[in-house]
Amino acid sequence: MRLLSDKIALITGAGAGIGRASALSFSQEGAKIAIFSRTKQAVEETADMIRDIGGDVVVIVGDVTNAQDIKRGVSTVMDTYGRLDCAFNNAGTEGQFASLATLDEAVYDDTLSINLKGVWLSMKHQIPALLENGGGAIVNMSSNISTIGMPGTSLYTASKAGVDGLTRCGAMDYAGQNIRINAVAPGGVENTAMTTRLWTEEQQQANRAGSPTGRLSTPEDVAEAAMWLCSDRAKHINGQILNIDGGFVPR
Ligand SMILES: NC(=O)c1ccc[n+]([C@@H]2O[C@H](COP(=O)([O-])OP(=O)(O)OC[C@H]3O[C@@H](n4cnc5c(N)ncnc54)[C@H](O)[C@@H]3O)[C@@H](O)[C@H]2O)c1
Repeated sequence: MRLLSDKIALITGAGAGIGRASALSFSQEGAKIAIFSRTKQAVEETADMIRDIGGDVVVIVGDVTNAQDIKRGVSTVMDTYGRLDCAFNNAGTEGQFASLATLDEAVYDDTLSINLKGVWLSMKHQIPALLENGGGAIVNMSSNISTIGMPGTSLYTASKAGVDGLTRCGAMDYAGQNIRINAVAPGGVENTAMTTRLWTEEQQQANRAGSPTGRLSTPEDVAEAAMWLCSDRAKHINGQILNIDGGFVPR
């Protein structure tokens, strides 16, 4: 029996990086999946990779900041598979890594819109679908720096601290209705477009050297945690933010 056999899962931001790796991992563990992302070509590529390993997938091209896109995404899942069991709200952006007073206002709005409002809108429309089937599990994407004060990261950190708040409080709102809401909070992750945009290879080498395990996370490390939190094996885990960084940042 695979970890997610017969589960219907929705993954946002599945056109690249952690979202793509998660889509493949969820599929390998038996889930039928809906993958939602902004860039058609990228999300279609992920779908082809899933079909190549024999997986069942439906594609939704949309923006997590747009309520109509999110609604259409959830409807597509219900029309295709008849129910929704779990969702991984992974889509996000680094925004701008810069000192607080130099942040650009438009980038500020855009970052909070994607990282925070996008997660709220996703949950807002996923929760009624989960309830139709008696409950389910949601995993949101945070970051291990959501609880600390690292220079140059105020905007990103604020957006992810907001995700932590939505996760903890949403978990309490729906705990009595058999919905679990948790978050994964990676540190630096190898091999994603975001990582390459943020750090040179030299900086990544320094990040690896500073990690207690001597390495950064892989997208698959993050996928493993998201899958477990979505699975029935985590049935009494709720409202938690799980750091995935080899112990670098204590929570
Ligand atoms: N890479 C890291 O080191 C790291 C560490 C901690 C947390 N995270 C978080 O993990 C998530 C994924 O990061 P990644 O490194 O894979 O990034 P990435 O840039 O490689 O991939 C992000 C994916 O999200 C999609 N996306 C972005 N904005 C969207 C929107 N408005 N609507 C729909 N889709 C959208 C992109 O098209 C892409 O497919 C993000 O939320 C990020 O904040 C990343």
